[in-house]
Amino acid sequence: MATTLISGGTVVSSTGRAPADVLIDGEVIKAVLSPGSTLFGTDVAASVDTVIDATGKYVIPGGIDAHTHMELPFGGTAAIDTFETGTRAAAWGGTTAIIDFAVQTFGERIEDSLAAWHGKASGNCAIDYGFHQIVGDVTPDSLKAMAKLPDEGITSFKMFMAYPGVFYSDDAQILKAMQVSRDTGLMTMMHAENGPVIDVLAEQLVEQGKTDPYYHGVARAWEMEEEATHRAIMLAKLTGAPLYIVHVSAKQAVEQIAGARDRGQNVFAETCPQYLYLSLEEQLGAQSEQYGHFEGAKWVCSTPLRSREEGHQDAMWQSLRTNDVQMVSTDHCPFCMKDQKELGLADFRKIPNGMGTVEHRMDLMYQGVVTGEITLERWVELTSTTPARMFGIYGRKGVIQPGADADIVVYDPNGHTSIGMPVDENGKPTGKKHHMNMDHAAWEGFEIDGHVDTVLSRGKVIVDNDQYLGSKGDGRFMKRGLTQYLT
Ligand code: URP
Ligand code: ZN
Ligand code: ZN
Ligand code: ZN
Repeated sequence: MATTLISGGTVVSSTGRAPADVLIDGEVIKAVLSPGSTLFGTDVAASVDTVIDATGKYVIPGGIDAHTHMELPFGGTAAIDTFETGTRAAAWGGTTAIIDFAVQTFGERIEDSLAAWHGKASGNCAIDYGFHQIVGDVTPDSLKAMAKLPDEGITSFKMFMAYPGVFYSDDAQILKAMQVSRDTGLMTMMHAENGPVIDVLAEQLVEQGKTDPYYHGVARAWEMEEEATHRAIMLAKLTGAPLYIVHVSAKQAVEQIAGARDRGQNVFAETCPQYLYLSLEEQLGAQSEQYGHFEGAKWVCSTPLRSREEGHQDAMWQSLRTNDVQMVSTDHCPFCMKDQKELGLADFRKIPNGMGTVEHRMDLMYQGVVTGEITLERWVELTSTTPARMFGIYGRKGVIQPGADADIVVYDPNGHTSIGMPVDENGKPTGKKHHMNMDHAAWEGFEIDGHVDTVLSRGKVIVDNDQYLGSKGDGRFMKRGLTQYLT
């Protein structure tokens, strides 16, 4: 077994930071040592196979993105990152594990949908991966199959109060699934937006000729996120199910979550970088020479980007400080402008919903440390430690300690990362600064005062100084336990 020492860095955890050397033996962390430690009289550094010099850098547990959609069939097309390209891009950005969603569609068996997702991911991933189960058809059989998911290492499922006719479940179906959640400990994850009302509002906007991407955000009113969040919380209270609200973007939804938590209910939430940095006015309403009034399609996702004038972004940052929102995922679901987003050129309802962010989450959240929105420790907690605890992989992942997988990122606070995709005078990309599959950069122009230098996945260096050293199939399926986050 090869041994590695990451020496001279500052090891950062969710609770503190200290100068320390990390000794790796094969795939796992063997010891966290005082700098310059000796073992039986010899320098540890002199006795290992490889030394990684982390002087002046942070040594953190690899990022865990608990919400991605590689290859998701959606909106008449499919998310453009495969498990191969999407997990490689994640690795480039310092994420060493993802949890994707296996999708049960109407009329399909849960077991078959899970097998299909294993088929897509197996042998293709650059980093370790797990699955949540999307439940899109509540039947007596699927309720029975759900109860067996923990045996497969799947300990959470997602339901949708949005997207009628696609993934939507009504309240009665949600109630039945939550009863399984209560009985088994499976975490209920909820897309909380009132889909039937949103669809009527969207139809009326289109009838008035309001077909631009901007109106996607108008139709998906925050009131319908607040309302659905409240309804999900009440259904969870009634049943006793633990509840996790995905991709929260409205400050009023946060108030619902905070209230439930203050009353002692097991309600949790994630937000995504897009709801912290981007807005209805600046992105969904954007115009450009290349794409004209359709520019905003790049940022059509659900829940939508919210109005900055209404203060949602500031409220989301605050929720991360107060722990009303506990973690940050990406909801990575990328589509190209050409042939994919373009499906909705004449009607925003036909724009496939989703953005690509899996490569940038660690950097974008680190920029929150630079600007003083969150602390260095909270950065690690939001992007790695809590995702691990929330979804039953803590101890193996999400922490630098003896016995944990050596999923480690060496992050340089004096480095720099420019995000984007330069174009020539005709708008043609002249090169990519990201590794995701889409034909544009939704985070164009973002400058990060930090840099992912080295990424280790179970002890193997897969990214080093802007070189990819991993290979397809490095990543393994993670069987997850029940949540370790319940209070
Ligand atoms: O716009 C989004 N969020 N697309 C992915 C599917 C979902 O709702 O998470
Ligand atoms: Zn969703
Ligand atoms: Zn999603
Ligand atoms: Zn770089």
